[in-house]
Amino acid sequence: MTVRWKHLIVLVILLPLLGLGVGWSGLMSVRASTGHWAITDWFLHWVMRNSVATRVAFVDTPPLDDPALIPGAAGHFETGCATCHGSPAQAAPASVLAMLPPPPDLKKVVLEWTDAELFEIVKHGVRFTGMPAWPTQSRDDEVWSMVAFLRKLPDMDANAYMQASGLHGIGHAGEVSPLPITCESCHAESKLNDTSLIPRLAGQSEAYLLNALKAYADTKRPSGIMQVAAGTLPREGLPELAAYYANQPRATRPLVQQDAGLVEKGRVLAEEGRVADKIPACLSCHDKASANPAYPKLSGQNSAYLRQQLSLFHAEIRGGSFYGHLMEGVAKQLTPEDIDAASAYFSQR
Ligand code: HEC
Ligand code: HEC
Ligand code: HEC
Repeated sequence: MTVRWKHLIVLVILLPLLGLGVGWSGLMSVRASTGHWAITDWFLHWVMRNSVATRVAFVDTPPLDDPALIPGAAGHFETGCATCHGSPAQAAPASVLAMLPPPPDLKKVVLEWTDAELFEIVKHGVRFTGMPAWPTQSRDDEVWSMVAFLRKLPDMDANAYMQASGLHGIGHAGEVSPLPITCESCHAESKLNDTSLIPRLAGQSEAYLLNALKAYADTKRPSGIMQVAAGTLPREGLPELAAYYANQPRATRPLVQQDAGLVEKGRVLAEEGRVADKIPACLSCHDKASANPAYPKLSGQNSAYLRQQLSLFHAEIRGGSFYGHLMEGVAKQLTPEDIDAASAYFSQR
């Protein structure tokens, strides 16, 4: 018995030492050029699949059929994903395909995953592979819109992809040289409508636009999409962008027929607030000439965008500029019906 114990103790001490010795010797290869052994490759993917499958057990998949989910995600795919995975408009560069493991062509592999599994991979990334996590962990709606986009990807040709992402290109479909994504790829007035989750910027307050861009760049307003778009720009360029959009005329567009009762409820909230619930009149801060110019205009904004921002404020995850806390206090008091009503009203105002 005593002899066995001794053996065990020697083994427990020796094994880690042996491991350290092998690591120290430099004999273990970390070369990506030689690839993994087939068994290592199989093992790593097996571990990854099990990990993803276990973590999605309690993930509820929201409805993903709203077409408004696609444009922001598609534009972000081009800047944040296509660099590694390629896209229907352009294959991944050879330098990236030399990664270990190489980023797969998503058109081919997304069918192997459920919506919840794609959500898990895109939100959290995959360790030891180079697959990054979503730039912010505090909101899930953008990640779900990326999942909605990935579902459409297998059926997209170069034209459909360029249309969805707002990518401009030189040449003909199939042999285009895409130009980089710009602000207009996503924010062009002509592409937006009342159901868009991408906000109209034309004619918005300049001070507010600048504060919003700084808030994204400083990660004080979480958005994976806008953190990438604004965070990669030189800071000195932000005032020019804010001025450019503030001076754009906001195109008039046909009014969407909203529920009249809802609009009326929104009007009352906007003009009078609701004293019993300590809700101030929205118009005491918004769309008022004498108010602080750093407060945003809401009139004519897409109702879907307004609804989403109010829901984010209500859940205390919207963040924003130095003034964001003012709005958080207001939004906490709003019911889901108030949010629908105010959004319907301001979109028509
Ligand atoms: C720096 C390169 C890189 C970027 C950027 C990147 N990925 Fe990946 N991605 C990878 C690599 C490498 C893998 C392979 C992981 C593996 O094989 O386990 C991967 C795997 C995936 C997978 C799982 C596919 C499979 O079957 O293995 C999905 C889905 C995915 N990426 C989506 C995205 C999306 C969406 C984005 C943009 C938000 C993105 N990736 C950005 C490198 C990248
Ligand atoms: C890939 C699509 C995409 C690109 C490219 C993009 N945006 Fe955005 N932008 C969005 C989305 C989506 C939102 C809403 C994000 C949120 O929920 O906070 C947004 C929000 C904004 C806001 C906040 C407006 C408000 O009312 O609060 C500003 C300002 C803005 N973008 C400016 C820009 C500028 C300037 C550029 C170019 C440097 C740009 N965006 C590029 C998609 C994009
Ligand atoms: C005390 C002043 C104040 C009141 C009252 C107020 N807000 Fe705000 N609201 C703000 C400020 C300030 C911001 C911008 C925060 C930032 O800079 O990030 C804002 C932002 C918003 C936004 C986001 C706009 C965008 O483009 O992203 C919406 C939507 C909004 N408010 C709706 C409302 C509604 C609806 C009401 C009434 C129920 C209301 N607000 C009442 C101060 C106020």
